[in-house]
Amino acid sequence: MLISEVIAKIKAYSRGLNKDGTPIDDSKTRDKVLYGETDKECTGIVTTCFASVDVIRKAHELNANLIIPHEALFWNHGDHTDWLTEDRNSVFLRKKALLDEYGITVWRDHDYIHSGLPDGNGGWYDGIFRGFLHETGLEKYYVPMVGNPVRFSGMPVEMLIPEGITVRKLAEKIIEGAGLNGIRLIGDPETVVHRIAIPMHCIGFADNAEIRNVNAHNTDCLITMELIDYTINEYMRDGMMLGDSKAILAVGHFNVEEPGMKYMLRWLPEALGTEAVPSWFVQSGDMNTFLVR
Ligand SMILES: [Fe+2]
Ligand SMILES: [Fe+2]
Repeated sequence: MLISEVIAKIKAYSRGLNKDGTPIDDSKTRDKVLYGETDKECTGIVTTCFASVDVIRKAHELNANLIIPHEALFWNHGDHTDWLTEDRNSVFLRKKALLDEYGITVWRDHDYIHSGLPDGNGGWYDGIFRGFLHETGLEKYYVPMVGNPVRFSGMPVEMLIPEGITVRKLAEKIIEGAGLNGIRLIGDPETVVHRIAIPMHCIGFADNAEIRNVNAHNTDCLITMELIDYTINEYMRDGMMLGDSKAILAVGHFNVEEPGMKYMLRWLPEALGTEAVPSWFVQSGDMNTFLVR
């Protein structure tokens, strides 16, 4: 199968609609070929969160010439490289040389995988967040968002554990399921939590909405992607100091999303049809190492 066919099949398998119901526009989507040629036979597929230098090396070892990451390749929204070329950026030039040497193509699957994948019952699910909940054993606690046609998507993604769980236990499930080195905790590990949410990106611009959600939904515990000190982090700590059972597991953006790219191997064969293409998940991995006092 040609690499261009692999890409077309994945797009066709996905729901392919934006949040407002309009079709994903191929001229505007993030899901572009970020590197290489598509008019050649696909020797193998590597799925990952971030096509790092180590992931590229591993793909070459596996003889896979297509990497499908969820995130950008060259460290900026839209994967613009003109500024890197102009600067003769050293890391850029060496990473590019590696891709050239190995003949690897990189196609990003971000908008399509979030847009929805068929659940077999006429419905759709977000491949990234379902992947995270599935791999960490939290899928059975998922609370669907009313009126949202795509399960496991939305702001926030919510879970309810009626019997409660300690933050420590919850963290252990995530560390184990997502293959992490650890998790930064804000709060007390023995706090028992029931209502858990992934509030998406807390990047300081619009976190009032997240604080409103925590208040309205009585959320005990946040599993955060980005986390900014001066907004929701402060808010949760003030809640704790007032006696609320609250905690934040600052898991990290890529650590939350990467299990979705592992989960991709479950649906990829169906998306590609009868002709099998060897596929692997290569974890770009937890970038954090913890030095504790
Ligand atoms: Fe992301
Ligand atoms: Fe994402």
